Order: sequence, then structure tokens, then C-alpha cells
Amino acid sequence: MQQVLSFIDSNKERYLSELKEFLAIPSISSQSDHNADIRRCADWVANHMRTIGMQNVQIMETGGHPVVYGEWLGAPGKPTVLLYGHYDVQPVDPIDLWTSAPFEATIRGDNLYARGAADDKGQVFIHFKSIEAYMKNVGSLPVNLKMIIEGEEEVGSEHLDNFVKEHKDLLKADLVLISDSSMYAKGVPSVCYSLRGLAYMEVEVTGPNTDLHSGSFGGSLHNPIQALTEMIASLHDKNGEITIPGFYDDVRPLTRAERAAFKKLPWNDKKYAKQLGLKQLYGEKGYTTLERLWSRPTLECNGIWGGYTGEGAKTVIPAKAFAKISMRIVPDQTSAKTARLFEKHLKKIAPNTIDVKVRRLHGGEPAITPIDSPGVQAAAAALHKGFGKKPLFQGEGGSIPIVVQFKKLLGLDTVLLGFGVPDENAHAPNEFINLENFFGGIRTTAHFYNELPDYWGKGKKAK
Ligand code: BES
Ligand code: MN
Ligand code: MN
Repeated sequence: MQQVLSFIDSNKERYLSELKEFLAIPSISSQSDHNADIRRCADWVANHMRTIGMQNVQIMETGGHPVVYGEWLGAPGKPTVLLYGHYDVQPVDPIDLWTSAPFEATIRGDNLYARGAADDKGQVFIHFKSIEAYMKNVGSLPVNLKMIIEGEEEVGSEHLDNFVKEHKDLLKADLVLISDSSMYAKGVPSVCYSLRGLAYMEVEVTGPNTDLHSGSFGGSLHNPIQALTEMIASLHDKNGEITIPGFYDDVRPLTRAERAAFKKLPWNDKKYAKQLGLKQLYGEKGYTTLERLWSRPTLECNGIWGGYTGEGAKTVIPAKAFAKISMRIVPDQTSAKTARLFEKHLKKIAPNTIDVKVRRLHGGEPAITPIDSPGVQAAAAALHKGFGKKPLFQGEGGSIPIVVQFKKLLGLDTVLLGFGVPDENAHAPNEFINLENFFGGIRTTAHFYNELPDYWGKGKKAK
């Protein structure tokens, strides 16, 4: 172990230059003009897996962007970890707001800035380097390892369910490990035990059969943008509660113990508001910010468009207006039912002056992972060693839909061992990974692989 850790310590510069190569590939999964980059990135991942000593490395087709698979199965009798991550990234716009180019990774202060630095290439790379440190110094790993690194996470992992179903034998393991979330704060390690789910909708409102002169026609009809925004505005009441009938029916109430545990975490609303540039926070009445973020469902308008938005003025009543609306859901809500309730309600509140169409874009189920499982206990012990601090347990507002599918299809629990920070600008301009977290992550994952067999065998508990 000592040898592994000192190897990690003396290879920092090389790690950064390799990571920069990985981050330079614009593997944006949602934009088809980047399909060749996605392929190039899958190749990079496969080649890198080979150089760190993974075997049977394959680029596997899915019907969409490929999955990269690799394995090392030389530890008979030891647990098998299925490591999941994604090599695809979000689009970069608005590009003007980036301080340095999104695909030219740049260090400023303690951070490395690039699209994908934290979500998720940087975190996948953390594992590559702890694995490499074992293979180069010990010649073996303390556990068996299978990896699937996918290319469609940021667009809803459309083909991953089928991929998992079709390769159940290949993916047989004892637990899933994912590093695609953040720590509680910079330098404050945590294990994540809950994720919200998602129902993502698109709404199309149609008014007149063509765009109209707003002088000649204004006053005689309901502007589709107005109708749409009136509908959207009515989806929350004055308490910040969502008005869709039945929306909260399946929401599992927070227990007293959970609320007490959340209250113990270091938190300051004023500081949080200031960090976001807000005069005041907003949310569902009766809940604290952490409760709202981790354990309560939400409805958000992600985008809204229609009419004229170019330079200068154009007097026009648009024929159509659109919005993208997502709902984060919590146990025991489901994505399908939530989408149905939304569609039914929108049709009901739509005025007779317009037509409304509702489409479901994608979704995923909320997930809770058992805190006292041996994997989570090993993760807690590894974080303690990797960062020199006892980790907290935390929830998450974001979604990783495959977590529930791994449980359903493979019967596996997941350990969420994230190394990002909450203000890392994921999906936004100036995404970064904190370098302390990055190197701490490499040490921690090395410890995790080392500790896991002990915890697995003996039902040992983290101190
Ligand atoms: N890494 C994130 C999920 C995440 C975000 C976990 C924040 C923990 C904290 C992942 O890449 C992601 O962005 N997921 C999407 C869901 C998906 C269905 C598009 C999300 O949460 O919006
Ligand atoms: Mn991610
Ligand atoms: Mn993401």
C-alpha cells in the first residue's frame, strides 16, 4: 500500500497531462456533429484501459454511443467491483462565459477547468490512476474489477438498460461503484446515499396557424407565449408547492431521524445565497434547504422559447411557444407516473384558446443506497484515509438513473463515492475539478480497493 501511495504522490504531473488529453476530446453526446469525437473518446478510454493493465477491453456497440468495457479478474475469492462512469459530456454553450477554452484544460488556483473535468471524465480518470498504481507496483489488484464507461449518460442513457440486460453474465459482480457526484464541500469528504429521479418533459403550445403582425392581430387572440407562461406560473402556489393533483401522493415523508441528521451538517443559508449571487433563497415552505435539495420533489422550467429573439425589435405574435420542464422526484414517486400526472394536468389547465402537446423526453428513478452495506462502510474508511477526515453521509439532488437499474437488473447495490464539489459548475461554463479532491480521490480509491475485501468478508464496520 505504501508503495502504491508513494507512486501516486510522485506521478502527479503525468496524471495531469494525461487527463488534459482525455478532456481535450469534445465528447458531447447530445450533438450529432460530435459523433466522431464520441468515437475518438471511446477509443481513448479503451486504449487507456489497456495501458493501465485492464484485460478483455472492448468497445461495445449499443445502438447509440458505445460502452467501453474492461476487466481484471485475477483475484479469486475476492469481491468483484463493477465500476460505472461516463465519458460523454454536456454541451459548452454559452461559450462566451468560459474564462478558458472548454476543451483546453487549464489550471487556475487550486482547480483544473474544462468541460468534463468533474462530470465525469475527471472522476473516471481518478480510478484509472489508482488501478494503474496497483498494476505497476504490485502487479495485481486487491479485488476483481469490471468497468463499463458509457457515452450516453448526459442524454438519458437510452441504450444502457438493454446493454445491461443483454450482458448480465459479463457484468456479474458483487457491488457497483460510481464516482459521478460531489463531496459535501471542498476538503469535506462524504459518502452519498440518495439520488433524486427525474421526469423530463417538453411542452408545445400552438395558437394561430401562422406568425401574425402583432398590431394587425394583437388583442384578438391569446398569445401562445402568454398562454404557456400562465400555465407554467400556475404550477407552483404561494408556498412553493407544486399544484399538479396527486403529485405528492407517493412522496415518502422525511423521518424525524433524517431531519435531525440533516440539521447536524454544517450549513448556512446566507452564505449559500451569497455564493449563488442571490438576495434570497426560494423553495417549498416548511423545509430546510438541504431537505428541499435532497428529499423533496421539484418542478423546474429548464428553457422556454418562441417568437422573435434576434437583434432589435420585431412586432410579431408567434404561432407557437415551447418549454422544457423537468421534475426531480424522490422515493416512492416514479418517473412514468409523474410524467402522466404532468401531461394530464397540463391538458386540463390549457385554455381553449390554444392547443397543447406534451412529450416525455427522458426520465429516471430515485435511488437510495443502504448506508450500512459493506461497500459503503469500506468507502467511508477509504475516505477517512484518503482525506484524513471522517466522511459525512449526504443526499444528492442530481440523478443517476442507472443506479436503480443495476439493482433491478443485476441485484446490485451501489456505492456513490464522489470527488466533485457542489459549486464545480457542472453542465455550466467554467466546470472544474478541485485538484486536492482529484489527488485525494486517487488515494481514496486506492484505499477503497484495498479495504473492500476486509469489509466484504467480515461485515466489518468503518470506525
Ligand atoms: N453526474 C451527474 C449526476 C449528479 C449531479 C450526481 C449532481 C450528483 C450531483 C450526471 O452526469 C447528470 O448530470 N445526470 C442528469 C440526469 C440524466 C438523466 C440526464 C441530471 O441529474 O440532470
Ligand atoms: Mn455525471
Ligand atoms: Mn452530468
